[in-house]
Amino acid sequence: MNIPYIPGNTPFSETQRAWLSGFFAGMHSHILQSAGSGTTNNARTINILYGTQTGNSTAVANDAAAVAKAHGLVPIVQSMSEIEFSALSKMQYLLLITSTYGEGEMPDNAQLLWDSASAEDAPSLPELNYAVLALGDSGYDQFCQAGIDWDNRLAALGAQRLYDRVDCDVDFEEPAENWIASVIPLLADGSSASAVVDSSTSASKSLYNRKNPFPAKLQANRLLTAASSSKETRHYEISIAGSGLSYEAGDALCVVPTNCPELVDAILKAIGAKGDEQEPVNGELMPVKEALRTHFEIKQPSKELIAEIAKRSGDQELNGILLSGDKEQLSQYLWGRDTLDLLLQFQHMEFSVAEFLSLLKPLQHRAYSISSSGKAYPDSVHLTVASVRYNSYDRDHKGVCSTYLADIVDENSEVKVFFTPNTSFRVPDDNDLPVIMVGPGTGIAPFRAFLQEREFRQAKGKNWLFFGDRNAATDYIYREELEAKQASGLLTRIDLAFSRDQAEKIYVQDRMREHGAELYAWLEQGGYFFVCGDAYYMAKDVDQALLDIIAKHGNKSIEQATEYVNQLKKTKRYVRDVY
Ligand SMILES: Cc1cc2nc3c(=O)[nH]c(=O)nc-3n(C[C@H](O)[C@H](O)[C@H](O)COP(=O)(O)OP(=O)(O)OC[C@H]3O[C@@H](n4cnc5c(N)ncnc54)[C@H](O)[C@@H]3O)c2cc1C
Ligand SMILES: NC(=O)c1ccc[n+]([C@@H]2O[C@H](COP(=O)([O-])OP(=O)(O)OC[C@H]3O[C@@H](n4cnc5c(N)ncnc54)[C@H](OP(=O)(O)O)[C@@H]3O)[C@@H](O)[C@H]2O)c1
Ligand SMILES: Cc1cc2nc3c(=O)[nH]c(=O)nc-3n(C[C@H](O)[C@H](O)[C@H](O)COP(=O)(O)O)c2cc1C
Repeated sequence: MNIPYIPGNTPFSETQRAWLSGFFAGMHSHILQSAGSGTTNNARTINILYGTQTGNSTAVANDAAAVAKAHGLVPIVQSMSEIEFSALSKMQYLLLITSTYGEGEMPDNAQLLWDSASAEDAPSLPELNYAVLALGDSGYDQFCQAGIDWDNRLAALGAQRLYDRVDCDVDFEEPAENWIASVIPLLADGSSASAVVDSSTSASKSLYNRKNPFPAKLQANRLLTAASSSKETRHYEISIAGSGLSYEAGDALCVVPTNCPELVDAILKAIGAKGDEQEPVNGELMPVKEALRTHFEIKQPSKELIAEIAKRSGDQELNGILLSGDKEQLSQYLWGRDTLDLLLQFQHMEFSVAEFLSLLKPLQHRAYSISSSGKAYPDSVHLTVASVRYNSYDRDHKGVCSTYLADIVDENSEVKVFFTPNTSFRVPDDNDLPVIMVGPGTGIAPFRAFLQEREFRQAKGKNWLFFGDRNAATDYIYREELEAKQASGLLTRIDLAFSRDQAEKIYVQDRMREHGAELYAWLEQGGYFFVCGDAYYMAKDVDQALLDIIAKHGNKSIEQATEYVNQLKKTKRYVRDVY
């Protein structure tokens, strides 16, 4: 089944969407009307499950619920971490919305449910009617894999697919809205009360959102690492005064960057363009120089551009890698090479300006975990950003957004921003419970916010931070603040791991293991365990260390320790913000 795309046929306006997002922000489980499975007052109940890491799927789930309600349905919105697999056999109508994380993996809150669903002995679901919406990013090899896996698995378990799965790329809003607009009427079965969301009470808190980012002012740009450090991490303060926007500790701020003007010039030169050639972009004619600066990803080469370069250059090595389908080899080949490197490497290729633009992806925002508490700083947002700078293929390379903030934006320019709430990654409501935070490198960002939040709330619960980076002398960022919080008693413990201060690397997980008995004791006291930073190495190693600590100090078998960790995840006491 194809999704008809009707321009302008969106289920509700941006204003309504903004209000709804605000309305739903902060809720873990959103039951729009209290209802059990089956029907209430003859209205049909539909379950809406979301799998999410950074909140996009949650927002879509809430949008779907609002439209369902407007159609006279009774939607129950839940995180996948909130239910057992057995609950699916009691459901009749299910909308499942999930993102994909890691390398084709489930987002954290969907993993346990998926483990049950994919088990060999998972019970069949003959009564279930379902539709899947997958969120992802086609820049990743396993595009929308988690949604694909759920769709296939539910079908294999005998559930009826109501509507073909839709896989959404980074600009997910429009396909998601179209999916909602197509699926809900199928469920409404003619019992629709009204297909229009009542906006009479939905006064918008803010006009600004992903589609209409707030043009903010950068108030501060400060180097956190020492000038002599091997890395550059900066502290930013961005004013949101007058925007009507608000945020909570744990949320992320998305920054919409523009490209480096020197890189734009170098690319224009490489393709033999002058820059003033007029090209259509999103239905509007503009000079190609402007288009490359503001509309296209010009650093990371798209898959389409790589394939075309391989074709036109006839290069044996690149063609060999593409033909082999070996993704590992391809990522090794591309490591450190950007679009300009490829253009310079194969200079005999000729692209017309229009051809070249057609091979580029739209320039995307970048997310940053907010390092301030919205209660302590209602008018500004703090970020802690590592500037991506490296030299390869005889050129200096710069990360698009981190160096846009570092080098391009100043107090006179606008920086377009919007929030993505992360409703799972939150300071515990109970101010007396202990909090353990593991955040090496820029992973410290949300924990600076958490500490401000605990201070603001005058929370009595203990706080323990594991922080680390390369060298203590140059990379102990926020040192004075942290020491002051230790002195005041807010920060009960801080354990530091500076990896390059000695011959053998020492990482945060080594410090966790050294203090395993106490860490386990904090968990036994009802402690929360948060992790932020690198997803691919650090978060996996920290996960293993946590399991080992629970097994050792809780005298548990690996199975019992795994169950303990699973319980922490289910109760949202073990949550990660990893990237
Ligand atoms: C939810 C979330 C929260 C985040 N929070 C933070 C945060 O608090 N702070 C923070 O700093 N970042 C954070 N990030 C990462 C951030 O979004 C960006 O990915 C990061 O700033 C890099 O973006 P960029 O545009 O500067 O670089 P890009 O232009 O995207 O370039 C990055 C790419 O450059 C290449 N590259 C990088 N280093 C090298 C190297 N040494 N050699 C060769 N190639 C290299 C890699 O291909 C890499 O993917 C977060 C990400 C997510 C998803
Ligand atoms: N997936 C991603 O794309 C991703 C993830 C994280 C960060 N980044 C980017 O990388 C840049 C710098 O990031 P950052 O400052 O957060 O961190 P970072 O510089 O990558 O690392 C911070 C600290 O973590 C240590 N570390 C390395 N491997 C580890 C492991 N397996 N377990 C525990 N600790 C480990 C590092 O040690 P050594 O370096 O000495 O080994 C360093 O001391 C930023 O641009 C950021 O956005 C990208
Ligand atoms: C670290 C990281 C890994 C990701 N891995 C994948 C992937 O393997 N496949 C994919 O299609 N999308 C991947 N994505 C993109 C997300 O699925 C996409 O951004 C989605 O909109 C996030 O939705 P959420 O906020 O509900 O989690 C990844 C994103 C990040 C930050």
